[in-house]
Amino acid sequence: MKLAVERFNQTQGYRFLTSHALQMREMHLRQLFEIDPNRARDFSIRTPHAFYDYSRQRVALETMNMLTGLAQERNLQGKINSMFAGETINTTEGRAVLHTALRDASHPEVQEVLGRIENFSAGIPSNIKNILAIGIGGSYLGPEYLATALRPYAKEGMNLRFIANVDGTDFVEKTAGLNPEETMVVVISKTFTTAETMKNAQTAKEWITLHLGSDPEIIKKHFVAVSTAKEKVEAFGIDPENMFGFWDWVGGRYSATSAVGGVPLSLYLGFDNFKKVLEGAHWMDQHFRTAPLHQNIPVISALLDIWNINFLGLKTRALLPYSQGLAKLPAHTQQVEMESNGKRIDLEGREVEFDTGEVVFGGPCTNAQHSYFQSIHQGTQIIPCDFIGFIELQYQLPHHDELMTNFFAQADALAFGKDNANPHKNFPGNRPSSSLLLQKLDPFTAGLLLAWTEHRAAVKGFMWGINSFDQFGVELGKVLGVDMRGRMQKFYNTGEFDTTGLNPSTANMFTAFLNGTLPQLK
Ligand code: F6P
Repeated sequence: MKLAVERFNQTQGYRFLTSHALQMREMHLRQLFEIDPNRARDFSIRTPHAFYDYSRQRVALETMNMLTGLAQERNLQGKINSMFAGETINTTEGRAVLHTALRDASHPEVQEVLGRIENFSAGIPSNIKNILAIGIGGSYLGPEYLATALRPYAKEGMNLRFIANVDGTDFVEKTAGLNPEETMVVVISKTFTTAETMKNAQTAKEWITLHLGSDPEIIKKHFVAVSTAKEKVEAFGIDPENMFGFWDWVGGRYSATSAVGGVPLSLYLGFDNFKKVLEGAHWMDQHFRTAPLHQNIPVISALLDIWNINFLGLKTRALLPYSQGLAKLPAHTQQVEMESNGKRIDLEGREVEFDTGEVVFGGPCTNAQHSYFQSIHQGTQIIPCDFIGFIELQYQLPHHDELMTNFFAQADALAFGKDNANPHKNFPGNRPSSSLLLQKLDPFTAGLLLAWTEHRAAVKGFMWGINSFDQFGVELGKVLGVDMRGRMQKFYNTGEFDTTGLNPSTANMFTAFLNGTLPQLK
């Protein structure tokens, strides 16, 4: 008889942490710093490429021992090893999860595609000055994060724009001012069926052919595809020679280091810079696979998330890079975290009895300080923060000191607060944060951050016993969308308002939409 797999909340570690949290909830960060003069040393991780300080989290040494104890009880290292070994850990889809192989110089298939990307980007005609990358979700957010982070490394005179939204405004605005003759369109879609991407790709094809003619040679010169679906790419009219593949063991939101990011970024930054992104991600992969749990940045950051979510009840996290280049990291992280871990059924098919994936939001600082920081400092919800800062600026300007004063000051204001007799001006403090300090935002570091984000989400899934690598939750809305599209088409063909089976709310708004005017006052 197969024994039921133990649930996360039935473990000994979970019980210990639950009662320990009762004590820790009474402790203020001011006290924790007072008690332990070595707190900065004891609650930080030093590596050659990243320094992670979590001393402002509401934890004691005992907490960290209990969290790593729970990780052992959940066989975390075994699960990490299974992922790297290519075992079928995405059980609901019957797939391996091997995005780490994309950064592994010894993987022959990966190296073959990388070689093709290198040749392709080196041979791009000199008149091409614009790259238009069309994709959505995982086929967009990771590459956009990297492109934004690495703008100072762009090839001279080269532009890269992303079109994701099916709102035609995105298409119009992103193609504004572009000369089709100088534009290369990269259609990125793992499935090559995603409605938004297909619509934008079709419009791009019309845009190119309208200006340059419909000779298949034109499409050949101006269109590239990144996909796993060869026949669909061919059916669209893109030359298979201009198609770059990847594999079903690369999930959409984990695909930025495949050809998904490789093609647009090599065209934009040059292949050598993309290779450095892979090196940075690989460094983090190795750190994640081999560093002991208590010295492991993705593991410790994920265990702290679990501590905050499951034991302190803090379910929202703010990601706050002190870097304009990292402006798009929160959006990418949001997909990685919330599409991976926004699950309520565990690997055994049981409903979970504890909170999983947190809500992640954030944005570049100091802008965010002038937006939602009021709430983070004094609101009723305690929002753990992740700060990211750099020793060096990307550009030589006298701004960096100003930026970094905020990086230091905000973490302390949150942790320690400041008493004031006027309750409106009182800062209670005890608001947890971690700080990741890096040397400089360059291709290597951008890759390192990407892999950190991926592994941090995976660790939580391993701990909770959920599958972080499927995303069935996005399907129902797509199916209902197809139904609505059918009804619209029927209206255009026959003039009939088909609202059969729709609820009164949808029927009302749908009718108004077809009428082209708002529902009228009766
Ligand atoms: O809707 C979510 C999603 O399925 C993501 O998981 C995926 O990254 C995205 O859509 C795009 O999918 P594709 O690359 O197949 O176009």
